[in-house]
Amino acid sequence: MDVQRPYGAPALELRANNMAPHELIEEELMLESRNPEMAAMLEMLERAAMGDSTILVTGESGTGKDVLARQIHRWSARCHGPFVAINCTTLAEHLLEDELFGHIRGSFTGAVNDKPGRLEAGNSGTVLFDEIAELPTSLQIKFLRFVQDRCFERIGSNRTLRVNVRVVVASNRNLEAEVAAGRFREDLFYRLNVIMFTLPPLRERTQDILVFADWMLKRLSVAGGRRDLRLSPEAAAALIGYRWPGNVRELHNALKRAADLARSETITPDDLPDSVIHRNSATVAAPAAHGTRLKDFEREQILRALAQSSTLGQAAATLGINVTTLWRKRRHYGIG
Ligand SMILES: Nc1ncnc2c1ncn2[C@@H]1O[C@H](COP(=O)(O)OP(=O)(O)OP(=O)(O)O)[C@@H](O)[C@H]1O
Ligand SMILES: [Mg+2]
Repeated sequence: MDVQRPYGAPALELRANNMAPHELIEEELMLESRNPEMAAMLEMLERAAMGDSTILVTGESGTGKDVLARQIHRWSARCHGPFVAINCTTLAEHLLEDELFGHIRGSFTGAVNDKPGRLEAGNSGTVLFDEIAELPTSLQIKFLRFVQDRCFERIGSNRTLRVNVRVVVASNRNLEAEVAAGRFREDLFYRLNVIMFTLPPLRERTQDILVFADWMLKRLSVAGGRRDLRLSPEAAAALIGYRWPGNVRELHNALKRAADLARSETITPDDLPDSVIHRNSATVAAPAAHGTRLKDFEREQILRALAQSSTLGQAAATLGINVTTLWRKRRHYGIG
């Protein structure tokens, strides 16, 4: 096999070719969790990032697959190399093929120059294949070969190229189900499923809602020149009680909006989106997700009772405790 390795100084060469790799914007992330499963996962992810194995990240929309894929790159030994993200949904099949593998001049009408693909752009770095379940079946076999030996040809070329990239794959679909439905190649799935992380939805780690909110409000306070943005107990309870179908993305957006709308430093339910405050029984989160500590559960119940009552007495009655006890517990948990 005629394998070419023309990429001695990949990053420089890419710049020279004017093929700026997907810029890795420094973003600050919340990388802690009070949910034991999530905390263990983050710790494992950091360890896994240091190796070179393929990592598959799955989870519902908005759980943070993209941002964690970027973090894997930052944690890895390749952190000074390029990070290239390819979204498998955004392009028509032939455009995606061209984007991935590149082409040589004359390989199709309009191919007036040689053009390297994004796989080459990722040489010596990390390539994220986002929404991998959407990869057209016709490209899956070519992609399988790439995943197996990092080899491919530009469209129209018979010269085989090999790149040195770490593969990270993200999907909000269950790939096993896609395999069972015959939409995703089983051999490709097994190749990708070396280390798999499934990010739990926010409703299954309710302990993290207020932790994330505190973290985010601190940053918004600094960014917006506000001294100390905080949640009223009612707003906190509303955040906990909501199911967050859009997960961290939705919470992030709700907090940003609230920070903009709040008249004072205290965010009230009025500053939250209607979807969050107009709860009904179907949208109230299950009380204690698996692994929730008793203390967190108690705090959550108090916040919820306060949100649903107009007086402290009413909230105490709902909780089956007296007002003094509720007052004491509020202080203990730093509520209000
Ligand atoms: N750990 C985190 N720290 C800070 N912000 C986060 C974190 N996780 C998610 N977010 C916020 O949520 C947004 C969505 O995250 P991301 O794009 O990674 O989700 P996703 O799982 O890839 O969703 P989709 O399946 O819709 O592509 C981010 O832009 C960021 O604002
Ligand atoms: Mg994504």
